[in-house]
Amino acid sequence: MFLGANISAMKQDRSFLSGKERRFSPDEFIVSKTDAKGIITYANDVFLRIAGYTLDEVMGKPHNLIRHPGMPRCVFKFLWQRISAGHEIFAYVVNRAKDGDHYWVLAHVTPSYDKAGNIIGYHSNRRLPKPEVVQMIEPIYKQLRQIEDSAPNPREGTEQSMKALVDWVEQNGGNYDAIILSL
Ligand SMILES: Cc1cc2nc3c(=O)[nH]c(=O)nc-3n(C[C@H](O)[C@H](O)[C@H](O)COP(=O)(O)O)c2cc1C
Repeated sequence: MFLGANISAMKQDRSFLSGKERRFSPDEFIVSKTDAKGIITYANDVFLRIAGYTLDEVMGKPHNLIRHPGMPRCVFKFLWQRISAGHEIFAYVVNRAKDGDHYWVLAHVTPSYDKAGNIIGYHSNRRLPKPEVVQMIEPIYKQLRQIEDSAPNPREGTEQSMKALVDWVEQNGGNYDAIILSL
């Protein structure tokens, strides 16, 4: 009983990772919407099932609720730069489910506009990525994360990892979108 309570408390800790990967069907889409600040305003049933949360638990929460600690900060910085400037982006992302399991997605994130052309929020559709692409992305993200973790502070770490990400894009033809969509 006591041990059970401890395990349950451990799983609530957002740094806890079980090491277990979750998969969803290639026919399914994980969908969420946020306001302009990244606060969740909608999540579909597939999102809730895979992330292991109820609708009440995610609504009104920042989208970093499902952030996996292994994700490089520079990827999110790049994502926000793109979407807040009105562009769409595709990105490989590993997320953390409520119980510490993880799941990889290929995310497409787009801004939503009001009639006057102002960004009022964002919309993300995610598909199951090919396992061989995840195998290719994982070591790149690990390297970016190592750069971030070995820097004297988070700001410098993100700056350095962003440079490494830009270098990787340059080495692979210079067009991030073309690289991601070719994988
Ligand atoms: C529509 C939308 C969907 C997002 N989806 C995810 C997601 O699935 N996983 C994730 O970790 N961050 C997602 N983000 C990015 C988060 O807002 C946040 O930048 C990220 O989790 C990093 O959090 P941190 O800056 O607090 O470390 C999404 C943002 C938007 C606007």
